[in-house]
Amino acid sequence: MLIEEFRVESASVEYAPESITSTYDYQTTELSRGSDNKWVVKPVTHQYQFRTDRKVPKLGVMLVGLGGNNGTTLLAGVLANKHGITWNTKDGLKSPNYFGSLTQASTLRVGNFEGEEVYVPFKSLLPIVEPNDIVFGGWDISGLNCADAMQRAQVLDWSLQEQLVPLMRDIIPLPGIYDPDFIAANQEDRATNVIKGSKAQQVEVVRSQIREFKERNSLDKVVVLWTANTERYSQLVEGLNDTADNLLAAIERNEAEISPSTLYAVAAAFEGVPFVNGSPQNTFVPGMIELAVQKNVLIAGDDFKSGQTKLKSVLVDFLVGAGLKPVSIVSYNHLGNNDGYNLSAPQTFRSKEISKSNVVDDMVSSNSILYKPGEHPDHVVVIKYVPYVGDSKRAMDEYTSEIFMGGKNTLVIHNTCEDSLLAAPIILDLVLLAELVTRIEMRKDDEPAFHGFHPIAVLLSYLTKAPLVPQGTPVVNALAKQRAMLENVLRACVGLAPESNMLMEFK
Ligand SMILES: NC(=O)c1ccc[n+]([C@@H]2O[C@H](COP(=O)([O-])OP(=O)(O)OC[C@H]3O[C@@H](n4cnc5c(N)ncnc54)[C@H](O)[C@@H]3O)[C@@H](O)[C@H]2O)c1
Repeated sequence: MLIEEFRVESASVEYAPESITSTYDYQTTELSRGSDNKWVVKPVTHQYQFRTDRKVPKLGVMLVGLGGNNGTTLLAGVLANKHGITWNTKDGLKSPNYFGSLTQASTLRVGNFEGEEVYVPFKSLLPIVEPNDIVFGGWDISGLNCADAMQRAQVLDWSLQEQLVPLMRDIIPLPGIYDPDFIAANQEDRATNVIKGSKAQQVEVVRSQIREFKERNSLDKVVVLWTANTERYSQLVEGLNDTADNLLAAIERNEAEISPSTLYAVAAAFEGVPFVNGSPQNTFVPGMIELAVQKNVLIAGDDFKSGQTKLKSVLVDFLVGAGLKPVSIVSYNHLGNNDGYNLSAPQTFRSKEISKSNVVDDMVSSNSILYKPGEHPDHVVVIKYVPYVGDSKRAMDEYTSEIFMGGKNTLVIHNTCEDSLLAAPIILDLVLLAELVTRIEMRKDDEPAFHGFHPIAVLLSYLTKAPLVPQGTPVVNALAKQRAMLENVLRACVGLAPESNMLMEFK
């Protein structure tokens, strides 16, 4: 049973007109070695207070890569939802939805009523921006208007596109920062809409574009998200991009090794605007991370976790959790969209390979009954560009595991899906959750004042392939754990216990 609305009645939660405050006992464990050198695991409880600002802002989202497949598919999808556009296909009449979005199309269990399990929409837990109210804008190095760019993407049904053209043809991406050294040479023909000048000047232009967008649309808040082409990795060089000061000085000197994505991120940080990186490259060089921390501006990344990697972070978790030992994981992809074309260059492919490769690390290291120290499954990722299949990406995965008494088990999975239809709802979740997270403050035990979460938004990990975390924070890739982290923190904000699945009421 789904209930659309509810309120929590508890002495530990207070709903004021402007905020929700909850007091929450966080039960965890502390580990130490006893005098007999044995491990001691001690349950401890910390008290947290969470305070969530209830005012949902008028939100603007600026996409870097607005004219790409993901950018136009998201824009088109939101406009179709907003205007209730229906369209005919050979399978019948279709209506818009937000399937694939955690915030818009998933539910949470709140309890049991007379034997029936009761769920609420994920988005009903805390006040969150409505996707249909978002104002979209952004940049693209291709100057095509968004209607023509949607047609170029070849993702949505034609009869839907026809109806969207009038709503999208006047949306023209802002000129963007282009540096041919960072994306594949095959993208050069697209780069017709670029910001001229030195790197420092480019940052200033992007800053003023953000300010103008905010002002022109009377927005309370803006989030910037990179869904532009995958760049090659930037080299990490001492004195160049290792600290915030060095990074800013390097931009002033117009150093070649500072990537466009880092320049956008720097501009966003100076404007106090969250920046999410949906591609695999290392936009967040150490100096950029330090800058975000200094300015206390949210950053999150890297690389949308949409298809193959999402499944991997479920399957390997299941296998290792079941006491089976994956020893070989081989992933082939072929795709024919512009992302695939860009990834056909070795340096940009390398960024993708890195971001896809660490995804099973936490699951493997969780079980040293199966794996000796340093042992790791063979893990190979291959991506090929096959123009004919367009955005309809094929992913083929083979998982071989060692099972009982020397046996072997091989699972083979073939996944065919429009890449951008998977990515668009994830982009939506990332911006909605990034905004929500900036409205939550917390206070632990006897801390004197409320403060926000760490600027590196680990809570968004569920949506990214290679979660960016603050130094010393464990990287969690297992999908169910990532979802539980986000869900349980949001539950805590309204004074609800974490979902333990113990179902003691029925024991
Ligand atoms: N679709 C998915 O499922 C998925 C999953 C994970 C990551 N990604 C990543 O998302 C990104 C976008 O994917 P896509 O399919 O939309 O690609 P796309 O090539 O269709 O779109 C990217 C757009 O970015 C523009 N662009 C390139 N460099 C730019 C810059 N410096 N400034 C402004 N615009 C710039 C391009 O002109 C293009 O229109 C890729 O990096 C891809 O790897 C996609």
